[in-house]
Amino acid sequence: MMARMSDAEAWSASFGSDASAVYAETLLPTVFVPWAGDLLDVLMVGPGQRLLDVACGPGTLAAVAATRIGSTGAVTGVDPSDTMLDLARRIELVDGAAPVAWLRGPADDIALPTGSFDVVACQQGVQFFPDRRAALVEMRRVCRGGGRMGFSVWRPIDECPSFRAVAAGLSEALGADAADAYRGGPWGWTDPAAMTEVTEGAGFIDVQAVARTLSVRFHSVEQLAATVGAAPVGAQLDASPSEVRRAFLDATAAAIQPFLRGTAVVAPTATTVVTARSPGW
Ligand SMILES: C[S@@+](CC[C@H](N)C(=O)[O-])C[C@H]1O[C@@H](n2cnc3c(N)ncnc32)[C@H](O)[C@@H]1O
Repeated sequence: MMARMSDAEAWSASFGSDASAVYAETLLPTVFVPWAGDLLDVLMVGPGQRLLDVACGPGTLAAVAATRIGSTGAVTGVDPSDTMLDLARRIELVDGAAPVAWLRGPADDIALPTGSFDVVACQQGVQFFPDRRAALVEMRRVCRGGGRMGFSVWRPIDECPSFRAVAAGLSEALGADAADAYRGGPWGWTDPAAMTEVTEGAGFIDVQAVARTLSVRFHSVEQLAATVGAAPVGAQLDASPSEVRRAFLDATAAAIQPFLRGTAVVAPTATTVVTARSPGW
């Protein structure tokens, strides 16, 4: 328990307040909110349901879900990062949205009752969990019998050209290790067979892993390049001399060139979405 908590806390510490601000301001509207809608579609989330958003971060999926579910249902978001939860608590929900509760904690130790949710969702979180099986066992425990679980993780970075371009920029400016560190975070767990295995091993049934794509738009190369600030390596780049930062921007721009539409970047992103049902506890 102590080891798991300290892993989650270390991750949160690497994801400081500057990084989470970049995440919330740049990556949420361009990438994560559209993808949250997609995951909720796959999970057929609708009025009156009780939904848990695991690794909720700044409350991305929970907020979109609250609007769909409405006041007859309920939403809870859980995440180990106080910085993220502070952002989540600032969300202004639309009138008629489901009430949302925020809870601090790691995915493998969810302080909520067994069988208390119709839907358990996790967007771009499972790749970061130190013990994915334990987390999925917990996600199954809190899901009612017959309830649905779904998580999304990125497919390989080559299928996400905008982020591949950022990695190319980092490689040019800071070297291969920095690019590898960037890729190894969000794109560090991409094998659908391994996802199916761990989900079945956690006791879920009807497990399916499906590839999905969504086109995303950044209004400029600069906006795309700024997303690096949400990654731990962003701090290293920030502290670098201006010619290094210039080299990063130039190399990112060169790599994304085929996806320019005027000054905007329009490029596909790809995820694996794993869905399953809980047989009950
Ligand atoms: C890329 S963010 C995704 C956030 C959110 N799901 C979204 O769609 O915007 C990854 C999240 O995983 C959370 N996280 C990292 N380790 C975790 C763990 N062991 N248990 C639960 N969440 C964790 C982080 O705090 C962070 O909020």
